[in-house]
Amino acid sequence: IKRKLSTSTILNNSIKNVTVLGGGSMGSGIAQITAQAGQNTILVDISPDCLKNSEKTIQSSLTRVAKKLYKTDETSGKKFIDESLSRIKYSTNLQQAAEQTDLIIEAVTENLRLKRDLFKRLDKSAPSKTLFASNTSSFSIEEIASATDRKDRFGGLHFFNPVPVMKLLEIIRTRETTEETYQIMLNFGRSLGKTCITCKDSPGFIMNRLNVPYVAEAMRMLERGDATAEDIDTAMKLGAGYPMGPLEAVDYGGLDTCAFVLEGWHAKFPENKLFKPPAVLLRLVEEGKLGRKTGEGFYKYAKC
Ligand code: 3HC
Repeated sequence: IKRKLSTSTILNNSIKNVTVLGGGSMGSGIAQITAQAGQNTILVDISPDCLKNSEKTIQSSLTRVAKKLYKTDETSGKKFIDESLSRIKYSTNLQQAAEQTDLIIEAVTENLRLKRDLFKRLDKSAPSKTLFASNTSSFSIEEIASATDRKDRFGGLHFFNPVPVMKLLEIIRTRETTEETYQIMLNFGRSLGKTCITCKDSPGFIMNRLNVPYVAEAMRMLERGDATAEDIDTAMKLGAGYPMGPLEAVDYGGLDTCAFVLEGWHAKFPENKLFKPPAVLLRLVEEGKLGRKTGEGFYKYAKC
């Protein structure tokens, strides 16, 4: 019992300081929920403008969360927002942000070389106890981890958009992730209030491996003229209980991201027809119609 207690104490107290790399929607969301959960958080990006946007996004998302948690109790809601915000620092200095951290979560653009380069540099400056994790949705964790000498302290922490709302966290164990690293990541995920599931380092892990071919099929259905975009989306919302239809969901996440994932998998596994990028997707991306963020994808949106 004594051994069990001391192990669990170590695990529970092991992540106090978190560094998140990348100020996009995933990175901002991850930084927000770690701060909400009481961890000191540093959000790093090379662009000060991007960090300013992240700050705004986090502020408005925290307001929505506070409303849900505290309803009409404005004083408690304000305290929650202020305390969460006070735990987040914004930085453009990668090396400094890594100096005192227990866990680094990378959520930068899906570019393998960039991810490997970042971790290679961080491996030299971060303390040896620091765990490394990638939020990649399409690359192999082992391929990223192999740029470092801490493959045993490396895993995947795959969050879902919008991070403050979606309850799932996929934890990816590579062949070299140690049991201790895995347990600390699992405890960390639970401390954020997420439901954690575990997956091997396989393409797309669980959710994207099932979801990406599904959305591609919806696009092929649209291409064949079997049904309209609206009817395909309505079918999956009302017939399968999805909160968004497949085409709405791709508009929400970005057509460029979807095309990027499919192109990468198609190049790696050309025999798998499910991974072939649909022509309609490639055409829309070529036309700069990337979904909500550009005002048009499969649907048109009011510019915000
Ligand atoms: N921050 C905080 N709260 C938010 C929020 C945010 N960014 N976005 C939405 N919310 C809250 C709202 O305040 C609202 O709260 P309430 O229930 O108390 O009113 C609640 O969430 C629902 O939001 P809305 O009423 O605005 O709209 P919806 O009911 O349509 O929900 C949605 C929006 C949560 C995005 C829902 O449509 C949904 O779950 N869609 C599916 C998203 C999805 O598929 N995500 C996975 C993408 S794949 C991925 O991320 C993997 C990666 O590798 C790319």
